[in-house]
Amino acid sequence: MVFNLIAKNIPKLATLNTRVLLNKNTQFLIQNRNVAMSKTINVFFIDRNGDKQKAKAKIGTSLLDVAIDNNIDLEGFGACEGTLSCSTCHLILRKEDYEQLKAPNDEENDMLDLAFGLTPTSRLGCQITVTDKMDGWVFVVPKDVSDARG
Ligand code: FES
Repeated sequence: MVFNLIAKNIPKLATLNTRVLLNKNTQFLIQNRNVAMSKTINVFFIDRNGDKQKAKAKIGTSLLDVAIDNNIDLEGFGACEGTLSCSTCHLILRKEDYEQLKAPNDEENDMLDLAFGLTPTSRLGCQITVTDKMDGWVFVVPKDVSDARG
């Protein structure tokens, strides 16, 4: 029933500048990409070589989108394109930043358990939505990557 409702409306959703994805539990994830008018902030990625890379981040997008939109070269990052099935978008946050975010849900925690170099302040970039308060935040990309899909 819900599947039919969503499937029937996918063309309409697509025209509203959304991205429709199917996650590992075959649930539709509908991400609103209609952020052209959104304010941007600056965030930083520390890449696998330890280099700091500045990125413009649109409010309302995910950190995975930020990396892609800024052509940040993070080898293997975001392999499942945000469908929460790979853990390659693993990021390590500063403790003070981590504590300002809502706790990860069970699905994200399950995927984090499969990430390389898990820390107490680890999150998945595809699950973090950029907000105003993140201006200047730094996200460390672990030295290696582990794709949970094998
Ligand atoms: S991009 Fe695959 S879990 Fe985030």
